[in-house]
Amino acid sequence: MVKGFGRAREGNVNAGIGLGSSFFSEAPALRPRHLKPMPSFSGDLLDESQTHGDALVYLESGSAADLEDAARRLLSVMPVWRQRWKIGGFRKENRTQGGKWLARNPFHFTEGFGNPDSEREVVDRAVVVPGQGEPDWAEGGSYQVIRIVRFATDLWDRDSVDEQERIIGRRREGRWLDGTPGEEQPNFAADLHGKATPLDSHVRLAAPDRRNPPPMVRRSYSYDRGDGDSGLIFSCFQRDLVQGFETVQRRLEGESLAKYVLTIGGGYFFVPPPGDSWTESLLPS
Ligand code: HEM
Repeated sequence: MVKGFGRAREGNVNAGIGLGSSFFSEAPALRPRHLKPMPSFSGDLLDESQTHGDALVYLESGSAADLEDAARRLLSVMPVWRQRWKIGGFRKENRTQGGKWLARNPFHFTEGFGNPDSEREVVDRAVVVPGQGEPDWAEGGSYQVIRIVRFATDLWDRDSVDEQERIIGRRREGRWLDGTPGEEQPNFAADLHGKATPLDSHVRLAAPDRRNPPPMVRRSYSYDRGDGDSGLIFSCFQRDLVQGFETVQRRLEGESLAKYVLTIGGGYFFVPPPGDSWTESLLPS
């Protein structure tokens, strides 16, 4: 859970909530300005049974048993809630390094280096501030995007590590392909033709302008539902869905990673500001 966007903690479980656009169907004036159902992007194959929803309840714990228990109790204290979909995730090699949350995804790559390392920058990239034309109650909250991305791990694992690294644009451990350490900036300007880091690699398309990183904060989870259904529960926070997620997602169309991934679900949600009493009352404390 991203610090500051959590709503409640009970025992070993952190709980958070995000509200979908349909939550506001009877009170449209309260709907955060950019909130809408997640569109289908090029290459998506969205399965309605694991997409959208009035509310996203997010439970996080170091203990699987505590999580199950919290999910059961939540549904029993909220009898009007009907579970639309549910997915379990995990963060392998989860750690914080230089202020960034890092974890290893099912493609064996460490993720999180491109995130901000200071709380101030997290706020700059992700938190709604006054003057953005949002309803007053939404200031201090954040837009969250969830994408359930299924990975073709068999296909991926047939490629050499070198090929995989050229598709992502970093070494598995995070170092840049021009040799720059992972936490520093690569020199893309000296590699205009993509000799070191291919122009259609993930990082090159995701963040081409190294001085202006995409205004988003990512924190994804891996999932594995068996029978080859495994991948990433991509999750990111931003203060503006178009400038954040949507701009990057459109730039990623045509990336060399595309043939290994398929987005099958997820949604757009709004995470209310900490201390918002009416949304906190939706969660057990
Ligand atoms: C489809 C599955 C995806 C995989 C396997 C993946 C993997 C990675 C990896 C390994 C990195 C490099 C380390 C890091 O900075 O975290 C990265 C960076 C990044 N990814 Fe993804 N990602 C995926 C989807 C997405 C999506 C859907 C978006 C946004 C629309 C996105 C946006 C970014 C951004 C902004 C960076 C930082 C680039 C930088 O600062 O250099 N990724 N991703």
